Amino acid sequence: MYYSDEVVEEVRAGNDIVDVIGSYVKLQKKGANYMGLCPFHGEKTPSFSVSGSRQMYHCFGCGVGGNVFTFLMEYENFTFPEAIRQLAERAGIKLPEEEATPEAKKRADRRMRLFEINKEAAKFYYVRLKGDIGKAAYAYFKKRGLSDEIITRFGLGYSDKSGRELYRYLKSQGYEDEILRDSGLFTFDEKKGVYDKFWNRAMFPIMDGNSKVIGFGGRVMGDGEPKYLNSPETMIFDKSRNLYALNYARQSRKSYFLLCEGYMDVISLHQAGFTNAVASLGTAFTGLQANLIARYVKEVYITYDSDGAGQKAALRAIPILRAAGLSAKVVDMKPYKDPDEFIQALGAEEYEKRVQTARNSFYFEIDVLRSEFDFSDPEQKTNFFRETAKKLLQFSDELERRTYTEAVAKEYQIGFDLLERLVNQYGSAAITGEEQKESVYKERKKQKPEAGYYTSQKLLLTWITTEPVLFEKVKDIVTAEDFTDEFYYEVAKEVFEQYEKEGRVTPARILNHYETKEEQAKAAELFQTTLLGELSEAQKAKAFAETVRKVKQNGIEMRMGRAAETGDLEAMQRAVTEQASLGRTLAKAGL
Ligand code: GTP
Ligand code: MN
Repeated sequence: MYYSDEVVEEVRAGNDIVDVIGSYVKLQKKGANYMGLCPFHGEKTPSFSVSGSRQMYHCFGCGVGGNVFTFLMEYENFTFPEAIRQLAERAGIKLPEEEATPEAKKRADRRMRLFEINKEAAKFYYVRLKGDIGKAAYAYFKKRGLSDEIITRFGLGYSDKSGRELYRYLKSQGYEDEILRDSGLFTFDEKKGVYDKFWNRAMFPIMDGNSKVIGFGGRVMGDGEPKYLNSPETMIFDKSRNLYALNYARQSRKSYFLLCEGYMDVISLHQAGFTNAVASLGTAFTGLQANLIARYVKEVYITYDSDGAGQKAALRAIPILRAAGLSAKVVDMKPYKDPDEFIQALGAEEYEKRVQTARNSFYFEIDVLRSEFDFSDPEQKTNFFRETAKKLLQFSDELERRTYTEAVAKEYQIGFDLLERLVNQYGSAAITGEEQKESVYKERKKQKPEAGYYTSQKLLLTWITTEPVLFEKVKDIVTAEDFTDEFYYEVAKEVFEQYEKEGRVTPARILNHYETKEEQAKAAELFQTTLLGELSEAQKAKAFAETVRKVKQNGIEMRMGRAAETGDLEAMQRAVTEQASLGRTLAKAGL
């Protein structure tokens, strides 16, 4: 259900954040704000602050923050629409009737029933595992070192030998063939009738990010083909958009994820305390999965099998991760086959060491490349350096490229000057035709979120939203267009609009625009003055001027780039004029 901005804002304004949070957390008035013990991390002295005037909360201990919607989403694990509905009810606001088409309703209903069926099946398999019938499967999991606690946490189960039990059970629960057919859990055979797809297997339920079961993997216990059988894709099971254990990893509060190949690897890692481990679902890692990860963390440690296939899979995953703006490292499992075997053999501490010493993905790529060339042959050696030079071109940032060029030159003992010349040679050859067209966009994409410009954009937003005087100072100089980061651009647009229409900014309202907790938290962070640190007035003025200049300069450069690319002469002219007068404009505003 989509709710309009007006409705969302009405609901937000109708629920005082101090009252709402006060019903979950004991709050005490401290100055202008209220303080309490943070419900999102364990603490003994209160660092969780709720502001009535700004209608936001923030924890100085763990950094969470947001508006009243964010709070319910975090605390109750609600989706955005669920939070809206709950708060609307609380404030006695009548929400517009859902206007779903009959087809949409039918689809939603089918999805819901498929979720139910998968949940029922998971429970069924779990109960079997714990019963007499499941003894062998239970022993299998035990042999693989799993504790009862982890078996329960991952809902592991057993599909028995009869091959019809699940079908019979679900029929007895009133599910029709018509929907069971779509669940992917059964084979419908004209002659033989209906039977369970999973038969005498150790069962791994696959859950989505919200812990809803969407499918299964089933392993033969011992040898047999196929080793793992997975549910087929269904209306609710899309293998390219889900990750095994994401429901747990997203709550791990680590700054990176461990990316594995197998379910057992993930489970072993979680049992050893690495609750940030995820895996793809028996298929190759996809861009959609990378985007999914990018919603939670900025860094991924690939911890695939140490054999050739694992290495190949890592080489394929690296560019996919990079394209999603994630930085990647590769963990070395040798001499063990995979994380599961590594942990069983050497334990969590040794694994942690491997994580700490994981190879940066670029070096990993170069290492693999190196292994493909025989250095005793001058021609092959030359080719290796050519290929390396081409790879170095992926770093659009000059300093970064130089650093890597230097490092590679040193490690593989080739003159830095020579390697750099090669890089530049390929660089100028590459910038022709299509590539030239794309280069500006690429540049934009490649900039790391926390790179200098983005930090400046973030700081500037914080400054102007928390100190109206500063907004007045720059309102005729800076525009939303100067915020080249998509996210900050959206926030800036809203900030400028609110100032213009109402003469002030309501931070809590800006958060209404974001539907995920992660985005809300990112936006909420902007309104935390702690970002600005403790500065003297003079330092502050200087830092502010510097920030404005950086943001402005970057905005102009981006516009020039875009104008050049589209051949828009007028836009180019405007950007050039802007550039020429920037110094004067800033000076006039006392910046
Ligand atoms: P264990 O032998 O149980 O430790 O498995 P593993 O996790 O080491 O598995 P492996 O590296 O062989 O495979 C990794 C992942 O690929 C598994 O978790 C499955 O998702 C998938 N997979 C493995 N074998 C098969 C198979 O035969 N068919 C299909 N469809 N997927 C498989
Ligand atoms: Mn394994």
